[in-house]
Amino acid sequence: MSTGTLGGDRAKIARRTIRSDRWWLSPLLTVLGLTAWVTYATVRVFMQKHYWVADYHYLTPFYSPCVSKGCVPDSAEFGRFLPDVWWLPFAALTLPFLLLFRMTCYYYRKAYYRSFWLSPPACAVAEPHKTYSGETRFPLVLQNIHRYFFYAAVVISLVNTLDAVHAFHSPKGFGFGLGNIVLLVNVVMLWIYTASCHSCRHITGGRLKHFSAHPIRYRTWTFVSRLNTRHMELAWITLGTLALTDFYVMAVSAGWINDLRFIN
Ligand code: FES
Repeated sequence: MSTGTLGGDRAKIARRTIRSDRWWLSPLLTVLGLTAWVTYATVRVFMQKHYWVADYHYLTPFYSPCVSKGCVPDSAEFGRFLPDVWWLPFAALTLPFLLLFRMTCYYYRKAYYRSFWLSPPACAVAEPHKTYSGETRFPLVLQNIHRYFFYAAVVISLVNTLDAVHAFHSPKGFGFGLGNIVLLVNVVMLWIYTASCHSCRHITGGRLKHFSAHPIRYRTWTFVSRLNTRHMELAWITLGTLALTDFYVMAVSAGWINDLRFIN
């Protein structure tokens, strides 16, 4: 019987799988979840409105940093230099890096290989493709540059943190409302997701011969490793917090709801 190595033969089973559980449910939910999120995010980044609440300085993460000439001046802390055209998102400087960070993420790779590419759709279920080269060839070998997008994600998380701090604002000066909690929860979850990245684990504890000689790196690596075991959950939670944060800012900005204010 084959050992199932790259390019090896499959065990001689006529059926596609002999699994009798609902193995198709997980890939199906993944397709639905990712398609819904990408559709929502695409609509929002091209909407070019309802991204900023002037009274409270709430800026949605989908428009941060706002660097288009079309951005409201107060929302553009890093300057407005990109042309204001309908096909260019206001945060076009950073969105591609965020997209590539997620697309090359070890978890999302597994998720979309299984659910969209069916390669394979689940353990012990034959895939429809005749050959399999894994990530050993172009273009999938490029997934290895994930580690560089990690650094970009750290910078963007810092920008989001700055946004959350600047949002403690009201027309009277300092202010605090439900929107602040929404923005803070989102940014904390983004940091936890970013810290749980496999590349972060390697950066903190990789290539060391003796942990005993590097106690601080060992402790950091242990902490990151703990987060790393929850990477899949964090990947989904942050998709949720990002969409909810954006929706909340949109709803307040558009006047559909009022922000619940605790101070000013
Ligand atoms: S492995 Fe998922 S973000 Fe790095």
